[in-house]
Amino acid sequence: MGELSLKCKVSILISWALVLTCSAAKQDYFFHSGNLTWEQARNHCQVCYQDLATLTPENIQTIAKEQNITSDCWIGLRKNFDYNSTSNSSMPWSRWANGDPLLFQNWYPGWPVFRSSLPKRYCCTCQGTSQDATSLTGLAEETTENTTNMSNFTDQTVTDSTGLGESIQTVTDSTGFGESIQTVTDSTGFGESTSQNITPITAAPTMTTQPPAEAGCVPILDLSESDTNFIEDSCVAMLSFGAWVEKNCWELLSYICYEDRFCGEVTMTDRTSDSAVLTWEPGPGDISHYRVEVRVNKTLKTEIQTKNLTYKPVNLTGGTGYSVQVFPVKCGRDLNPQELLFYTTPDKVSNLTATIVTETSVHLSWNRPAGNVDFYLIKVQDTDWNKSKTESQGVDKLTPGTCYTFTVISGVLDGSTWSEETSIELYTKPGKVSNLTVSNNTMNSLQLKWVPPEGRVTGYRVVALNDRNHILYSETEETPEKKVTGLPMGTKITLRVSALTNGTSREGDTTTVVNYTAPGPISNLVLNSTYNSLTAKWSPSEGNLSSYTVKLQLDGTLVTTANNVTKLMKHFDGLMNAANYTVIVYAISGHIKSSPVADSTFTKPSPPTDLIVINTSKNQITFQWKAPVNISKATYSVKINSSFWKYSKVETLYNKTSYTSEGLISGTKYDFEVRTITTPEESSDPVTVSNCTEPDKREIGLSMLCSSAEILLCDTTTTRKSVFEQLKAHFNNQLGDNIFWELEEN
Ligand SMILES: *[C@@H]1O[C@H](CO)[C@@H](O)[C@H](O)[C@H]1NC(C)=O
Ligand SMILES: *[C@@H]1O[C@H](CO)[C@@H](O)[C@H](O)[C@H]1NC(C)=O
Ligand SMILES: *[C@@H]1O[C@H](CO)[C@@H](O)[C@H](O)[C@H]1NC(C)=O
Ligand SMILES: *[C@@H]1O[C@H](CO)[C@@H](O)[C@H](O)[C@H]1NC(C)=O
Ligand SMILES: *[C@@H]1O[C@H](CO)[C@@H](O)[C@H](O)[C@H]1NC(C)=O
Ligand SMILES: *[C@@H]1O[C@H](CO)[C@@H](O)[C@H](O)[C@H]1NC(C)=O
Ligand SMILES: *[C@@H]1O[C@H](CO)[C@@H](O)[C@H](O)[C@H]1NC(C)=O
Ligand SMILES: *[C@@H]1O[C@H](CO)[C@@H](O)[C@H](O)[C@H]1NC(C)=O
Ligand SMILES: *[C@@H]1O[C@H](CO)[C@@H](O)[C@H](O)[C@H]1NC(C)=O
Ligand SMILES: *[C@@H]1O[C@H](CO)[C@@H](O)[C@H](O)[C@H]1NC(C)=O
Ligand SMILES: *[C@@H]1O[C@H](CO)[C@@H](O)[C@H](O)[C@H]1NC(C)=O
Ligand SMILES: *[C@@H]1O[C@H](CO)[C@@H](O)[C@H](O)[C@H]1NC(C)=O
Repeated sequence: MGELSLKCKVSILISWALVLTCSAAKQDYFFHSGNLTWEQARNHCQVCYQDLATLTPENIQTIAKEQNITSDCWIGLRKNFDYNSTSNSSMPWSRWANGDPLLFQNWYPGWPVFRSSLPKRYCCTCQGTSQDATSLTGLAEETTENTTNMSNFTDQTVTDSTGLGESIQTVTDSTGFGESIQTVTDSTGFGESTSQNITPITAAPTMTTQPPAEAGCVPILDLSESDTNFIEDSCVAMLSFGAWVEKNCWELLSYICYEDRFCGEVTMTDRTSDSAVLTWEPGPGDISHYRVEVRVNKTLKTEIQTKNLTYKPVNLTGGTGYSVQVFPVKCGRDLNPQELLFYTTPDKVSNLTATIVTETSVHLSWNRPAGNVDFYLIKVQDTDWNKSKTESQGVDKLTPGTCYTFTVISGVLDGSTWSEETSIELYTKPGKVSNLTVSNNTMNSLQLKWVPPEGRVTGYRVVALNDRNHILYSETEETPEKKVTGLPMGTKITLRVSALTNGTSREGDTTTVVNYTAPGPISNLVLNSTYNSLTAKWSPSEGNLSSYTVKLQLDGTLVTTANNVTKLMKHFDGLMNAANYTVIVYAISGHIKSSPVADSTFTKPSPPTDLIVINTSKNQITFQWKAPVNISKATYSVKINSSFWKYSKVETLYNKTSYTSEGLISGTKYDFEVRTITTPEESSDPVTVSNCTEPDKREIGLSMLCSSAEILLCDTTTTRKSVFEQLKAHFNNQLGDNIFWELEEN
């Protein structure tokens, strides 16, 4: 219902086709030159038209002018019709052939002609009784005699003898024959005129005209006057200039027929896109058949003849305006056609698709249907119809992510018929989510949050990608937040969120955010310290790391932070000795820190300084050193060692800075080592010094016997030297500088 009214609204905008009208009550006249008797002519007119022409003041001009009447012709008037034997209308000149009353006459002067002898007989023999005679008729009460000056009316007396009463004394020119007879015209049009001066009082020849017997009149035939123009049963012919005369009905003349113009209507039912049923009204009279002409744009498409009053044209083209004319054919003549312009139903559009779909707009296109179409109407949901002349239409101001039904119908110019609907349902694209943020970055998860877009959304698709665009995670979610899990550690993650509608089938534009998972903690943290420096080394954590952050704390207080450390070690200098330092290492990925890994260590104590030997004897050595700075009371570990004698002795000294080693072997080199000790495990680097006890010299003779296969070889100097060098090397090897010795050759 609503749809229909909308369609109607549109059709108001459409220019309506030409309205076909048929002016009813118009008569057409047909002049036939030929030679038929009045009866034959009338018969022909009745068969092929309506009847012989009835003349009126209105049509006489037209007929006379347009029909080019070249000769006398019959019209639909005769003196006596035997219309209906039972009716009383047998008065002469009273009716036209079609039964119309004779309201108008246009006699040529002198007509109609009456029999002259009858009245003369009555009047001329009954002297002085003319009054009686006239009164007997009961029709004429006054007689008027007069003559005219006109040439051919000179001797005629025109009498009002219609018997229609005194009142009709007015003399009117209603014949159109000029002033010459102005005084003598009977306004009723039924006047009789005689050619005699003597007034006849009878009304009509056919009426009772018996002379009154009591008057004693003796009719005497008076044949002195001529009756040549008198015709007993005359028919009326029209002269070519319009005036009427009586003629014998058997004369062969031309004739004029008339016919009421036929006005009928063609109606169209059962309209489809390729056919319609046409029905029309029957034509008047004896219609031989109907000729149906079907035109498109004035081009004749089909022409058929049928006796039926319906016709069903088939194989029509949809959406086309067909103009139909149905001509009733009578006597081989086309009557005024019944006409109709109708449109076949246009075919429905096909392949309706949405070519562009955005969040708020849709561009539709479709295929033009076979056949013709003048325009299309497009409807979105239940809104108004929009008109389009082309096979596409953009629709905007839609809500994102919402299901819409788009309907297209095709129409024709006059809006009288519409094609079937073609519809598609589709979802507009959902909007883009906004304010996408990441929080709670862990080693394998990220917490996402976002603001839902405008319009309708049934869910979201959340996708996580790594740098090489491998999908790490893809899930849908209904609420605007999601914990993305199962991610690799310490990795740059691209996160995409798109809104979904119609389940998951329609997806909006994606919003992207980049963030990092937290890297894993480092491992194998090893600290190496000296008395004033510390070196931390570690193994890398999992993931793509950008750097490390290393923090140094002393007794829980931050000493320094090293950012952007890219090597797997960090060296700290200038530290306090013998202090408990803590090193904390974070791996960094993006801006995300791993969980910390920490270790603590003490820096070493400072070694003593200025270790010197101050006294040496044969069996003891005394040495001294200075305590390291900032140590008031220190413990020292002193080690005395002689590798030669495999002698080693360790002494722990408390708060002494000198030491005398006793019971030593003379002439031996001793190594001394002194360390500062803080805890049993921690001691400082050693300071060392070496010294020899005084030698207690003894001489030992060595004699060597030389024997040789070669004569006198032993006696040569070179050999002796060589042997001596070998011997020296041997002693050096055995003793080194560990004890005092000298080798001399004698
Ligand atoms: C009248 O009829 C005759 C014979 O019937 C014919 O020869 C003549 O042509 C006709 N005249 C006209 C005007 O038809
Ligand atoms: C009458 O004659 C005129 C001019 O000769 C002509 O145009 C017209 O068609 C004729 N009418 C008929 C009915 O023959
Ligand atoms: C005469 O009139 C009667 C009654 O009006 C009618 O039934 C009859 O058909 C008429 N006859 C003729 C010949 O017109
Ligand atoms: C006849 O007409 C003449 C003038 O035309 C008039 O004088 C005379 O009275 C008329 N006669 C009658 C009887 O009316
Ligand atoms: C008058 O009648 C005579 C004979 O009756 C005729 O010759 C003459 O043509 C007629 N005049 C007119 C104008 O009709
Ligand atoms: C006329 O109508 C009849 C029945 O309604 C049908 O059989 C016939 O084919 C029709 N003729 C034409 C020419 O349409
Ligand atoms: C209509 O078209 C069909 C198929 O093209 C054809 O078979 C049929 O004869 C056509 N009918 C008419 C009336 O042209
Ligand atoms: C519908 O349109 C598409 C693209 O315009 C075309 O490829 C397809 O063939 C069409 N289908 C029909 C049934 O017309
Ligand atoms: C909605 O989703 C279903 C299932 O995916 C699909 O079949 C249907 O065509 C979709 N509806 C619209 C209007 O796109
Ligand atoms: C998105 O964030 C901006 C600032 O970050 C804020 O002004 C705006 O209101 C937020 N939008 C929504 C819908 O929360
Ligand atoms: C990345 O994650 C960190 C830590 O959760 C957060 O502070 C930062 O805002 C995030 N960056 C973006 C672009 O969301
Ligand atoms: C971060 O995670 C913790 C523990 O999983 C949770 O309690 C907290 O609410 C989360 N913070 C945000 C902003 O999601």
